[in-house]
Amino acid sequence: MSRVALVTGGSRGIGAAIAKALQAAGYTVAANYAGNDEAAAKFTEETGIKTYKWSVADYDACVEGIAKVEAELGPVDVLVNNAGITRDAPFHKMTREQWQQVMDTNLSGVFNMTHPLWPGMRERKFGRVINISSINGQKGQFGQANYSAAKAGDIGFTKALAQEGARAGVTVNAICPGYVATEMVMAVPEKVRESIIATIPVGRLGEPEDIARCVVFLASDDAGFITGSTITANGGQYLT
Ligand code: CAA
Repeated sequence: MSRVALVTGGSRGIGAAIAKALQAAGYTVAANYAGNDEAAAKFTEETGIKTYKWSVADYDACVEGIAKVEAELGPVDVLVNNAGITRDAPFHKMTREQWQQVMDTNLSGVFNMTHPLWPGMRERKFGRVINISSINGQKGQFGQANYSAAKAGDIGFTKALAQEGARAGVTVNAICPGYVATEMVMAVPEKVRESIIATIPVGRLGEPEDIARCVVFLASDDAGFITGSTITANGGQYLT
């Protein structure tokens, strides 16, 4: 029987590429999404990948949603915490809501999804938790005090949990994408975006598939000795 992978924010952008790449690698894939029904329906129609709607910011909704996925597809072996939002603003203009929304989704969302799945992964002695952090969690970004803090938090979470999962066969890793050609990055003002691209040594934005290939590797049996690590995939924009 094929392993089951659950990808949050899996119907669009980087998450959709991850879901498709895992499907191509033989996994049974579930894609969670929070809001865009139309995009989710189109994604299912095109790929055959089932989509499930709930907000990762809501713990109870995660418990309920995960139970539904597991009832339909079987125990989740691979969790990809990809769902993320931006609420960019210079700090002097940032509201508490902008801070809280980003924390709730990008940091607490990772707790909310991993916590209910953790006991099962430990019991079955196999699991893969792959957290999609960001270059901006590594280097910080003007206008993203909220996002950078949450994404840096995801890396700390990864390193701590990796130590707890290791003996139980559960690996926990992070991937830090750089600027990837998705709606999120295209929403950055064009002039700002152009100035960012100028700082990427490979001379282009990343493709969602650049990140998806990292996920497929970390999910595989071949990556069993890799835990607590961060894969940096940013075209050379920031060297860690
Ligand atoms: N460094 C220094 N100064 C900067 C700056 C930077 N990187 N970016 C903007 N500024 C300055 C501007 O030059 C301007 O200065 P002046 O007023 O002296 O001309 C000032 O900041 C702009 O201030 P505003 O009050 O006009 O700012 P704003 O309310 O228009 O907001 C912003 C600006 C939201 C930060 C906007 O510049 C922006 O969206 N920047 C992009 C942030 C970014 O990179 N987000 C990443 C999104 S993609 C993502 O998050 C995915 C991922 O993981 C990589």
